Amino acid sequence: MKLSGMSLLVTGGCGFIGSHLVDELVEKKCDVVVLDNLSGSTVENIEGHVKSGRVKLVVGDVKDYEKVKKCVKDVEVVFHFAAQADVRRSVSDPRSDYEINVHGTINVLEAMRNSDVKRMVFASSGGTLYGEAIQVPTPESLAPHPISPYGAAKAACEMYLSAYYSCYGISSLSLRYANIIGPRSTHGVIYDFYWKLKKDPKKLEILGDGKQRKSYMYVSDCVDATLHLVEKTDGFDVFNVGSEESLTVRELAEIVVKELGLNDVEFHYTGGRGGWVGDVPLSLLDISKLKKTGWKPKVTIEEGIKRYVRWLITKYGAL
Ligand SMILES: NC(=O)c1ccc[n+]([C@@H]2O[C@H](COP(=O)([O-])OP(=O)(O)OC[C@H]3O[C@@H](n4cnc5c(N)ncnc54)[C@H](O)[C@@H]3O)[C@@H](O)[C@H]2O)c1
Repeated sequence: MKLSGMSLLVTGGCGFIGSHLVDELVEKKCDVVVLDNLSGSTVENIEGHVKSGRVKLVVGDVKDYEKVKKCVKDVEVVFHFAAQADVRRSVSDPRSDYEINVHGTINVLEAMRNSDVKRMVFASSGGTLYGEAIQVPTPESLAPHPISPYGAAKAACEMYLSAYYSCYGISSLSLRYANIIGPRSTHGVIYDFYWKLKKDPKKLEILGDGKQRKSYMYVSDCVDATLHLVEKTDGFDVFNVGSEESLTVRELAEIVVKELGLNDVEFHYTGGRGGWVGDVPLSLLDISKLKKTGWKPKVTIEEGIKRYVRWLITKYGAL
C-alpha cells in the first residue's frame, strides 16, 4: 500500500508522536484529518499544517462515538494514536484509562466497520505489553504479561484488532513501540530529569535504583519505521519497533546532565527495582522481524537523547 495522496485520519495527531507522523504524511501529500481532544498536547504542534489547509483538525474525544464516526467517513486508513499515555495515571485511575484506551479504540474500530474503512495502524507499547518478560530481548511471539492497566489496555486492543480482522476484514498493523524520545515530548524520564534539574541543578532524584534498563528510540526513526511497515504489510500483524541499544536510567541521567552542561550533580535514588508501580525494570525488544523487512534505526540512543535535550533547552531555556 502506498500512502502518498491518500485520505487519512490520525487520532492523537496533535501529540508527540502523532504530530511528527502528521508532518511526514503532509510531506507525502496525504489529506489528513486529525482528531484530538488536546488533553495531552497543544495545537501548536501541527498549527502550520492547519493554517496552510493541509490538515483538518477536529477537536474531539475518541470516547464520543458520533464524533469519531464523522472523522472516519471518507478516509482510507486510520492511524490510531490517541491515548492516555501515562502508565502511572493508569495505575491511579484504571477506569478512566480503560475508557480512553480500550473503549476509545472500540469506538474507532466500530466507526471504521460502519464506514467500510479497512486499514488501521495502532500505537501499541512493547515494554508495558510484555511486562516482566521471561525472554529478553523479547520477540513478538511471547505472550503479553502486562503489569499495569495501561499495558493491559494495549494488549486488550490488540486482541480486538485480531478479532476485527477475522470478523470484518479490517486489517491492522499494531506497532509495539519502545520508549520514544524527541522534540515535542512532554512526558517520560528525560523530560522529568530536565525539569528537576532546572529546579535544582545540584541534585537529581532518580526513581528506583537507577539500574532499570530499557531501549529507547528517536522519534524520527519511530515515524520512519511506522511508514515503512504500513507500506510493506497487510492483514493483521504485530511488530516490535525499537532499537537494539539499551541504557540504564543512571547512564541516561549522565548523558542528560552532560548535555545540559552541568557538573557535580548528586544522584539520589528512591530505591526499588522499578521507579513506580507498573514500571518495567528490564525492557528490550527483539527487532529481528522489523529488520527482516529491510529497516534499521538511524539515530543512536545517545544522539537521540542529546537532540532531545537541545530541543528542551531551546524551548524552555538553558539551566
Ligand atoms: N511515547 C512513547 O514512548 C510511547 C511508547 C509506546 C506507545 N506509545 C503510544 O503512542 C501513542 C502516542 O503517544 P505519545 O507519546 O505521542 O503521547 P501524547 O500524549 O503526546 O499523545 C497522545 C495524544 O492523544 C490525545 N488524546 C488523549 N486522550 C484523548 C481522547 N480521549 N480523545 C482524543 N484525543 C486524546 C492527546 O491530547 C495527545 O495529543 C499513544 O497511543 C501511546 O500510548 C507511546
